[in-house]
Parts: sequence; structure tokens; C-alpha cells
Amino acid sequence: MPRSAVAIALPPAELAAVSAQLTEAGYDAIAVNTAEELKTLLDLRRDIGVAILDGENDFNRTIEMYSLLHDEDRNIPALMVVAARALDRMGLAGRARVSDEYFTRPYSAESLRWRVEAMLIRAEVPTDDSTGGVIATESGPAMETADSRRGQIVIVFNPKGGVGKTTIAVNVASMLQIRKGQRVLLVDCDTVTGHVASSLGMENVRTVADAWTEDLTTAVAESFAEIASTHHNGVAVLVMAESPLHTEILEPKRVAEAITAARQAFDWVVVDMHPDYGPLNQVIFERADKIIVPVTPDVPAIRAAVQFREVAVELEIRDRLAMVVNRANSGVSVADMERTVGMPALAEVRSAGMLFVRAANEGRSAVERFPKEKVIEDIEDLCDRLIATAEPSAAKVGSGFMGIFGGGRNTNPSVRAS
Ligand SMILES: Nc1ncnc2c1ncn2[C@@H]1O[C@H](COP(=O)(O)OP(=O)(O)OP(=O)(O)O)[C@@H](O)[C@H]1O
Ligand SMILES: [Mg+2]
Repeated sequence: MPRSAVAIALPPAELAAVSAQLTEAGYDAIAVNTAEELKTLLDLRRDIGVAILDGENDFNRTIEMYSLLHDEDRNIPALMVVAARALDRMGLAGRARVSDEYFTRPYSAESLRWRVEAMLIRAEVPTDDSTGGVIATESGPAMETADSRRGQIVIVFNPKGGVGKTTIAVNVASMLQIRKGQRVLLVDCDTVTGHVASSLGMENVRTVADAWTEDLTTAVAESFAEIASTHHNGVAVLVMAESPLHTEILEPKRVAEAITAARQAFDWVVVDMHPDYGPLNQVIFERADKIIVPVTPDVPAIRAAVQFREVAVELEIRDRLAMVVNRANSGVSVADMERTVGMPALAEVRSAGMLFVRAANEGRSAVERFPKEKVIEDIEDLCDRLIATAEPSAAKVGSGFMGIFGGGRNTNPSVRAS
């Protein structure tokens, strides 16, 4: 089945690079110069999945094009490319845009391509619970769905402490929930020094250890979705245990089963891990669709990642590993890190000074607190890549979707050049 087509109305200089990226990713990239051209195209083809519009130059033309996308029976998401300052003026930064989205200049054609891929994939995510076997999707034909609601389990792990696991878990979860319209369960599996809930300003939440201890007397088993507490940003937050001492009840296999079951209720289950190779972590590794390995550009963190890669080979999970270079802007080349660590880099997150600490002190994710900061663009880019490279679920196999780490096209994504 062919992939969708993307209509592009960008200035010539940007058009060339963006078209090349989208064509390489297997999309039909079609340039349109006027609203009339777009109308002709939309009348002719039903497979336009996203239109990229210029939100800065010739705004009248853009508005005409925008209304064509949402005319009559059509509802084609627009990706509006604007300057950061224009976005400021529109007052839209940081707001959830479920279908239309904004992308700020300057940008790299590659990260724009990941955004488009993520938009196309999300447009295929069924949104209606009530239908049984077959759900018609926004952008495409009805697809088989029995297992297609299965969310993705993404765990964040590096055996070295302090490399940014919790920071990345909290902000990726928040980004997916707030800006990408996904339903997210964020699990703190660090039963020793876990600080997910406290960094989101949630004190004394009911833990899995609490709930399972109560279950012993009530004999009512609760799912993780039921035990979790919802942060005001919408993310469901689940803490394993408050005290590192009383964790015997957290039988690893039962935890792993419950995480797996949570995929029915959430699009993403993001798990923050304690840096160890204990039995709990081992069973969770096994269940992960993707394992994000944050690596800072320093020898101890790189060594720890190399060690983990070797362990992963033994556990036969190596193909799920994806390095995220954290504090990336410190002079070490990402290509060098990929070579040394022996893992493809999924994305980079720059060093953000005190922003993460300040947001955590206020009990919020940096995504909410500092939505316009560059580092949040990095987090968004990381999330776009996660969405676009997610393991194909039942529905997506049929649509010709191939995850990058699952093989198929482009098995070694290079990170953004900027
Ligand atoms: N990109 C970044 N820019 C600035 N500060 C960062 C960045 N990433 C992480 N930090 C800071 O580094 C510290 C350690 O990060 P974090 O707690 O996320 O690491 P961790 O891997 O979860 O540690 P542990 O193994 O102890 O759980 C925190 O204070 C966090 O705010
Ligand atoms: Mg941590």
C-alpha cells in the first residue's frame, strides 16, 4: 500500500530540502504554489495526509489554503511553519494542537520530516473506544484494530546515575500527553531514589505497594490505570513504592504483567528505572518496545552505556536500544558517540542550565513551564522520532509502516545536523 502524499507550500529554498527528505522517507511530496493549485490537487487525490503551509509569508494565501484543508468533508492537518517570534505573537506556543501543528524557523528539513511522519501516524490512531473490531481513521481507510490500541512501552535506562533518565522520562511523557494528544502513563520504577512524583509536585501519592498490600485484604485487584494519580498536565503518574524497604510485594513478574496490561488503556507507558540490573529491571527490559538510553558526553556515562549494550546482547534486546545524547552541546560529536557506544542516536537533548531543576522545584515538567525554550524543541523532536519509529502495531503493519529500529528503510538514523 502506498504511503500518503504531503502537499508543500514553502519558499523555494526550503521546498527543495523538505521535499528531498520526505521523498527519501517514501512520501509523495507535492509542491503547491497557489490556493487554486492546492484545490486542484485535493480534488484529484484523496491521499494527502498533511499539508505544510508557510505561516509567515503571504498570509492571505496561507489562510485560503488552510480553509481548503478543512473544507466540506475534508479535515487534513496542517503543519504551519512560522518564526519563533510569530508563534509568540499568536500566543500558541505550548498549547496542545491535536491535528494542526506549528513548526518554528529556523529548522532542519530532517526534523520537519520526523514531525510530518509523527503527524501522519497519529492521524491513524483510532480515537473511538466504542467500536469493536474495525475503526475508520481520520486519514485513511478502516483498519483492523484488535491489537492496534496496544500502547508502546518505552523505558528509560542507563546503569549510570545522574545521566538524565528521570528528566527525560518526565518531559517525554509530558510532551506526548500535552502537545501530541497521547494518553500517557508515567511509571516510576525506581524504588530506591525515585523522584518522578516529587519532581511533578505530587506528594504522598498512592503507590503500587500500597494498593497491592490493600488488595491482600480486600481481594480486589486494581489495574495500574486505577492506581495511578493524574497530574494536572494530564499524565497518569504511577509510583511503585514510597520506601525502598517494603518492596517485597512488588513481585517482578506481576509488575511486568501489569505494565503490559496498561498498554490497553494508554498510548504510551513511559518507565523511569533505577540504575541496576536486578530482577525487576530484567523483566521490564523484556517487555519494552523501546529502551531509551540517555548518555552524557563523559567517560563514565559512555562506559556504562557500552556495558549496557553488552548486557542487552545477552538479553537479546539490543535492537530496542536507542541512545539519546543528553547535554549534547558540549563539543563531543554525536557521530563519535554513536561509534564509541555502538548504538544509534535517536535524538539529542541540549544542556538546559537550571531549567529542569527550576521546573521540578515548581512541581511541573519543563514542557509546561518553559514551552518555548530550545531544549523543549529537542524533547519534541525526540517525541516525533519515538512516534514515527514506534513498533508497528497490528493496524500499522497493513499501512506499510516500518519502524526504524525494526528494520526496513533507513536503519541508522542520523541525528539532526544542527
Ligand atoms: N539536558 C539537561 N540540562 C540540564 N540539566 C539536566 C539535563 N539533564 C539532566 N539534568 C539535571 O541533571 C540532574 C540528574 O538528572 P536525572 O535525575 O534526570 O538523572 P537520572 O539518570 O534519573 O539519575 P538517577 O540515576 O540518580 O535516577 C538533575 O538535576 C537534572 O535536572
Ligand atoms: Mg532518576
